[in-house]
Amino acid sequence: MKSTLLGLETVWLEAECSKYAFFKDVLEQTTPEVAFVAIDDDTEQAVTLVEEISRTYPDTAILVASNSTDGNLILRTMRAGAKEFLPQPVQPNDLAAALQRIAKTKFGSEGGAGQACKIYTVAGSTGGVGSTSLAVNIGCELAKNSSNSVVLLDLDLCLGDADVYLDTIPEYTLTDVAQNITRLDFTLLKRSLTKHSSGLYLLPRPVQIEDSNLITRDDLQKVVNLLRATFTHIIVDTSKSYNKLDMLAMSMSDAVLMVTQLDLPCLRNVVRLMMSFEHNEEIKGKLKIIVNRVGQGGASISLKKAQATLGQDIYWQLPNDFKTMIEVRNNGVPLLEQAPKAQLTRAIAQLASDVSGQSLDEEPAVAATKSRSWLGLWPTRSESDPEEATESAN
Ligand SMILES: Nc1ncnc2c1ncn2[C@@H]1O[C@H](COP(=O)(O)OP(=O)(O)OP(=O)(O)O)[C@@H](O)[C@H]1O
Ligand SMILES: [Mg+2]
Repeated sequence: MKSTLLGLETVWLEAECSKYAFFKDVLEQTTPEVAFVAIDDDTEQAVTLVEEISRTYPDTAILVASNSTDGNLILRTMRAGAKEFLPQPVQPNDLAAALQRIAKTKFGSEGGAGQACKIYTVAGSTGGVGSTSLAVNIGCELAKNSSNSVVLLDLDLCLGDADVYLDTIPEYTLTDVAQNITRLDFTLLKRSLTKHSSGLYLLPRPVQIEDSNLITRDDLQKVVNLLRATFTHIIVDTSKSYNKLDMLAMSMSDAVLMVTQLDLPCLRNVVRLMMSFEHNEEIKGKLKIIVNRVGQGGASISLKKAQATLGQDIYWQLPNDFKTMIEVRNNGVPLLEQAPKAQLTRAIAQLASDVSGQSLDEEPAVAATKSRSWLGLWPTRSESDPEEATESAN
């Protein structure tokens, strides 16, 4: 039963209970949306339990499983308040269908707890185009809405730096979560992730570069399934190597945000990537082209010409704002915090709103306590070194 439940994308197994007598205590602590009672050990005690749960916790839907097909027993459990009666051994499809019926009556077709998780992958047409900056800041924008729970997955396994953008030294990484996937419960998962004060959770890349080879497609699939059951939005920051994991992340996504700049090497790569994705049914059609650093001057190609070269509409434009971005990077704070009124911040907020179909005007989430920080390792965190700034500008 446990492995069946864990195999379902939409289910989070909150707790297990081995005795009917303790079941109500477990419910009190966890207040789940669904309670599952296997009634065959002691049908009398189990039916009484179902009756009590349905009276005390009317918001918890009760599912019952039994080897018996006795009509009387089925009738009694349903009268006691069970929503579904499933024959043992429970088939994954039957269970999924029962849970769907419950979700439908409980949440209707609207969002809420029944809302499906959205996955947005941020990819880039070459190194340094601004994909991590976008992934981090779009994540913070989405996390601003208190009905969202958002996690950023850093899939740039060797050189990912999302932790630096959020000025946090995480305790656990993607490797830890992948290796302990079958043992993780809800509390442990959330505890393994780092929560930023914006409300955004981060699952970082492995600490050791060598560990990046340990993560398989199967691991990634399982981690994403687990995150899906827990979060309303997953943002994935991919590497620029378009390896198997990056491709899997894109194929699992609802949208792939392809960040580019207006120069020839970048645009040529976008064309090449688009040609390659053309043959991939799971990615094709999900690509949204984001032009970053618009207005940076120099040898930029015009937007009109870029659009003509790409043969696809440019989905979003993000202005060049070198000064703000340098501060954001050096202070390890998101745009929302560093420069809430900047044009770039507004452009990313509108992009987050458009891609998610949500209005994101709510107040920021309550600040979380931060554990350790990268910038805490350095004596100062406010003044940026002018030399470094010039170097980055180049
Ligand atoms: N709109 C912008 N205006 C000015 N500077 C920007 C903008 N977006 C990003 N940058 C700067 O560009 C640099 C690269 O950004 P970022 O790390 O987000 O890119 P990336 O595509 O993730 O790079 P990598 O390939 O290393 O993963 C950073 O210094 C960042 O501050
Ligand atoms: Mg990056």
